[in-house]
Amino acid sequence: MLEVKNLMVFFENALAVNDLSLEVKKGEIVGVFGSNSAGKTTLMNTIAGLTQHMMHREQRKGGQRITISGEMLFEGEDILRAKPSRRVAKGIVLCRERHPVFKDCSVEENLRLGGYLRKESEIRERIRYAYDLFPPLERLKGKKAGMLSGGEQEMVAIGMALAARPKLLIMDEPLLGLSPAMQSEVVRAVREISRDGVTILLAEQYARPVMPVIDRGYVIENGTLIVSGTGKELLDNPEVRSAYFGV
Ligand SMILES: Nc1ncnc2c1ncn2[C@@H]1O[C@H](COP(=O)(O)OP(=O)(O)OP(=O)(O)O)[C@@H](O)[C@H]1O
Ligand SMILES: [Mg+2]
Repeated sequence: MLEVKNLMVFFENALAVNDLSLEVKKGEIVGVFGSNSAGKTTLMNTIAGLTQHMMHREQRKGGQRITISGEMLFEGEDILRAKPSRRVAKGIVLCRERHPVFKDCSVEENLRLGGYLRKESEIRERIRYAYDLFPPLERLKGKKAGMLSGGEQEMVAIGMALAARPKLLIMDEPLLGLSPAMQSEVVRAVREISRDGVTILLAEQYARPVMPVIDRGYVIENGTLIVSGTGKELLDNPEVRSAYFGV
């Protein structure tokens, strides 16, 4: 479904993603693991088109700070230079890190905004889907999103991404800062979303909480791929085990 080959992303002279290749097959849940500043967000943002958007905005002001090269195919189409909106229309939807929601809008308004490219009937169906996936959201639907807990905001952010009807849902550190109970809720939701036919690529610092749901994973350090494999293969690698599994 998604093929990334020899991707490079430079910010000025700093290499954030270094010659990285990865693949996500239809129906899979694939993890990208790496510590702080490993390049996870840059990778996710480049797949979603946000890095390219930032680059074009800077170029219009005369800047040449960001350089992107490599290949990126989604369902066979070259998307490396496609606009983010084009990617969303094709089914690539990013749920950004630290649960970004519109704080002054209600939960339901946020979910509605997530589906802005869709028809009204579809938006209603997607809001229903979010409430079925995360029942607490229905009770909170009239509340301002900024008043919710971190875990509740993460549910809203995931619901917004789902409102855009992804084929490939990209989740950047969905478990960040959540309590263990809330982490289990999100992991359960990931499994359910996947069962409903959505392919998932997710980035996390630690692999352990998502291990039960991932099919394969990639470990990156300083933008470079260190190792990839099935969950078991990653667990069997002693270095990966101590650095990313906390065991
Ligand atoms: N807009 C930017 N301008 C300049 N450098 C950037 C920019 N965004 C990221 N970087 C640099 O790229 C590298 C990778 O950062 P990135 O945010 O992708 O890491 P990360 O793995 O998501 O880290 P974290 O776990 O903290 O979220 C870092 O060295 C960072 O300083
Ligand atoms: Mg990040």
